[in-house]
Amino acid sequence: MADLKEQDSSEQMESKVYALIGFMGAGKSTLGKAVARSMNRQFLDLDESLEYGEGMSIKSMFEIHGEAWFRQKEAENLRRVVEGAAPGAIISTGGGTPCFHDNMSFLLEHTTTILLDVSPKELARRLEPGRAHRPLISHLTKEGFLTWIEQKLEERNAWYRQSEVIIQADELSPAEMEQWIHYREEGFLR
Ligand code: S3P
Repeated sequence: MADLKEQDSSEQMESKVYALIGFMGAGKSTLGKAVARSMNRQFLDLDESLEYGEGMSIKSMFEIHGEAWFRQKEAENLRRVVEGAAPGAIISTGGGTPCFHDNMSFLLEHTTTILLDVSPKELARRLEPGRAHRPLISHLTKEGFLTWIEQKLEERNAWYRQSEVIIQADELSPAEMEQWIHYREEGFLR
């Protein structure tokens, strides 16, 4: 009976999907993709699936339709992707996903959320080279960039920090994240 109970709860845990949340540049897509491949899990990227569904880049969505339109589509896509995901799948969200349209409540209810918590300085270092291609930060000056990240992060932490799991991710490797998922699902490190 005890065994059965344990099995039930671990199955239940595995049947939930993992949602990686956090700021742009936190490593949600890169880590998620690497870990899913190594663990043989389904990987789903919300930004990518939205781009595919709408037939245009996120940058074009912001330019043509504006942010409010994008947030509405993002919320609808989130629900669609989570509902269709395989058990144990790893989903990377967009940096703003948890902060609009009650999405954080939805994520907390239907997924195991993992916040990849990265310091503003490290985020600025990672984001600087590709800044021109990201709609929310392309207009900022190099000097004002770190301050903008600090302010935005503080604002978004009201949602991010509700996450079920918070991992300091300035130096997180895919192998460490994989170990963490094993530990959570099986109770031991591999
Ligand atoms: C956004 C982050 C982006 C993308 C969009 C808006 C944000 O995703 O969804 O440009 O509001 O922080 P990444 O975090 O994957 O870059």
